[in-house]
This record gives sequence, structure tokens and C-alpha cells, in this order.
Amino acid sequence: MNDKASKAAIASRPAHTSRTHTIPSAAAAPGAGSSKAAVYESLVRALRELITDQTDFLANISNFAALLFSSLPNLNWTGFYLLRGSDLVLGPFQGKPACSCIAMGDGVCGTAALKRAAVLVPNVHAFPGHIVCDEASQSEMVLPVFKGDRLIGVLDLDSPQLGRFDDTDREHVEGLLRILMDGTDVPEFRLAPPD
Ligand code: SME
Repeated sequence: MNDKASKAAIASRPAHTSRTHTIPSAAAAPGAGSSKAAVYESLVRALRELITDQTDFLANISNFAALLFSSLPNLNWTGFYLLRGSDLVLGPFQGKPACSCIAMGDGVCGTAALKRAAVLVPNVHAFPGHIVCDEASQSEMVLPVFKGDRLIGVLDLDSPQLGRFDDTDREHVEGLLRILMDGTDVPEFRLAPPD
């Protein structure tokens, strides 16, 4: 492609493929010792910046996993398992390679998806049926992910620290997921059938 044609191609690109990229400054999160509330407030700002002008499902949930993993302390794995039929299939994540498919009802992830409710596990060794993906994991929080009232999958956060997650984390991460999903288009095939 000559220079003129290449400039014309760039000029005609839709906004979502623009080469002007903005990486949120808020990912420069509060320093060590900041309160949990301050960290989550900065995450809300960073997330809003990340998904402004971008509604693509994979782009946004990939950035979401990376944002949480790089900003929240004491995590060894953060990512999505996405509903496909009656299974949860590994989606965008940060951390070591993990099991690629979890049946509905299995492990912490399948339990959260089946109950459509958050599951907080202070000690994974005490959770019957816990699925080990990274042996470093000691505690875990799994939240169902919804678009409107339809289940898409779950978000899984693992920590090498016992009792890492509490209801404050749950409430804040649920809020972040609502912001994410309000600003993200979800392809119909990824949505659970309506009840
Ligand atoms: N521990 C999860 C499996 C997924 S990994 O931790 C990444 C579970 O029991 O469902």
C-alpha cells in the first residue's frame, strides 16, 4: 500500500480501530498502604477510562482481568470462565495456565454459576470439590457475571493468602462488573437462555 492509500485507509477506520490509544492513568493506582476503598475508587476511574469508546466483549473483559490483577494486592490468578451450554469455558485471564473447562456445579466456579451468587472461600482446602489450577491459591472469590438478568459466566479471583476476600471486596468487584457489563456489548450466543 502506498503512502497515500495507507493514509486514506487510516482516515476511514472506524473509531474503535483508531491508532490513538489511551491507557488509563488511574491504573497508576494509589500506592502501597492505601485504603481498600481508595484502591477500588481508582479502579472505577480506570475502568471507565478503559471502556470509553470501546464496547467489544473480548477487549473489555480482557482489560478488566488485567486491570484487577495488576491493581489489587495479593492475587495469583484473575479471570473469566464463560458459559457455553452447561459448561464454563476458560476466558481472558491473568496468571498461570488454568483448567479450560468446568462443568456447571463443579468447584467454586461451577457452584457460583449454578447458584447465580457470589462464593467466597477463605480456605480453598476446606471447600469440598475445589478444583486446583494453581497450587499457590489459598483463598478464592467467584462472582457470577450478568448482562441484565442473563448469566454470561463467572469472574474468579485467587489469592495466595488465606481469607484474602471479604464482603467489601465482593461489593466493590460486583460494582465494577456492573460498570463493565453496562458498557460492553455481549454477543447473543454468550448469554444464558432467559429464565
Ligand atoms: N479453583 C476453581 C478453578 C479455577 S482456578 O482456580 C483458576 C474452582 O474450584 O472452580
